[in-house]
Amino acid sequence: MSLNDKILDTMDRIRPFPQVVVKVLHLLEDPDIPASRIMEVVRYDPVITMRLLQVCNSALFGLKRRVESLQQAMIILGSQAMMRLIVAFGALDLLKDPLPGYGLERGELLDHSVACATLSQSLLKELNFPEDHAVFTGAILHDVGKLVLNEYAGEQYWEISRMVDEEGQSAIEAERAVLGVDHAQIGAQLAQRWNLPQSIVLVILKHHESVSPERDPLAVCLVHLANVMCVQLGIGAGTRGLASRPSQDLVQSLGWSPKKLDACLSAFWCELERARSLLNLPSEGRA
Ligand SMILES: [Fe+2]
Ligand SMILES: [Fe+2]
Repeated sequence: MSLNDKILDTMDRIRPFPQVVVKVLHLLEDPDIPASRIMEVVRYDPVITMRLLQVCNSALFGLKRRVESLQQAMIILGSQAMMRLIVAFGALDLLKDPLPGYGLERGELLDHSVACATLSQSLLKELNFPEDHAVFTGAILHDVGKLVLNEYAGEQYWEISRMVDEEGQSAIEAERAVLGVDHAQIGAQLAQRWNLPQSIVLVILKHHESVSPERDPLAVCLVHLANVMCVQLGIGAGTRGLASRPSQDLVQSLGWSPKKLDACLSAFWCELERARSLLNLPSEGRA
């Protein structure tokens, strides 16, 4: 069996992204969709419904009365925050396993993905852009291709590491050179199979490319930047993570002062702690 066939075979065995969340993401493509229409879809997923109600009834909100319906939950959380939680709950079980091929322990990919989504959202806010669900969802799922390539990246672990350490290649270049394919390409294929909206497929496909606001959608640019920043901050970097580089075009065209980045980062740490609490994740990132 060729490596390509083995990879396709592994893709068949990855658990699918919840269909209810896929439906919600397609509904969110229409910015005028009423939240009530989305709630009608979500209530068919008992696990996500239960998790949403559990969050509202947790000590985080300190409510005196029990929250028993999705309508009540939406009032408490706010509709945008609730949409983000629905996506995150859909991805929780998928992303928590250890990925030794990338040097990631149990829970580390999940924490990296949540951090990247939180930071992308903070950047969106900082730039005063309108809500764009492809930012948060694309960020949560950007590294999903690692689930497929973990086994093969593990078999070639030392060769990929050698190319990074001795030849100065970025982690994604070394992965592509050794395996003939990289986790961004495979993640995009997986997202197509799950029938996710094209805006999200594109974020996954391009998250390591040299992106620019002149050529690429905002969601692609923000997730690219947030991913590199999370890795530099050591959140889910794995063993080769530091060999990631931000697109110079993007950094220059944003033209942010160090002061602005600092302000954004300090807001991000607070937001990340809140996101970890809402999702019931430990603050050091291991599940
Ligand atoms: Fe990646
Ligand atoms: Fe990443």
